[in-house]
Amino acid sequence: MKKLAACEAMILRYGADILESSNMQMEKMFMQHGDVSVFEHSVIVACVCLLIAGYLHIRVNHRALVRGALLHDYFLYDWHVPDKSHRLHGLFHAQKACENASRDFELGEIEKDAIRKHMFPMNLRPPKYRESVIVCLADKICATGETLRMPYCRNVKENLGILREKDEAL
Ligand SMILES: [Fe+2]
Ligand SMILES: [Fe+2]
Repeated sequence: MKKLAACEAMILRYGADILESSNMQMEKMFMQHGDVSVFEHSVIVACVCLLIAGYLHIRVNHRALVRGALLHDYFLYDWHVPDKSHRLHGLFHAQKACENASRDFELGEIEKDAIRKHMFPMNLRPPKYRESVIVCLADKICATGETLRMPYCRNVKENLGILREKDEAL
């Protein structure tokens, strides 16, 4: 639990502006996997990224890791709604997320790489930086856990204040 609190503090330290932004808040209305919204998924992925880096003692740029993770699915639509523009979502949403995130936030090369390449190997270009490899890995762990409603994802979701305080400022 102490580790989750440390992750949460780091997510707020480096990503508060992203979490407060109106588009990110809109992500609360878009479902991602199972009963998890895109907003919740993005926060859980950021948390799991920090846990992976911590457990494996990987030296990372924490700011880039958190911001890349929070924005990796910033495609800003509900992919369950049938629409021509949502076709082949799996293939194209990483690029769309990167375009939207670059428009709304100032991003460095690591964040852009993490967002653009998080769907590797479905998107063929592999992640270039340690941080983008971690985002890619954490996304798969979380997507599987959320879809199958596995306890580790539920545990992270239920114990992060950012996600519990759904109707407050963040
Ligand atoms: Fe994604
Ligand atoms: Fe994702």
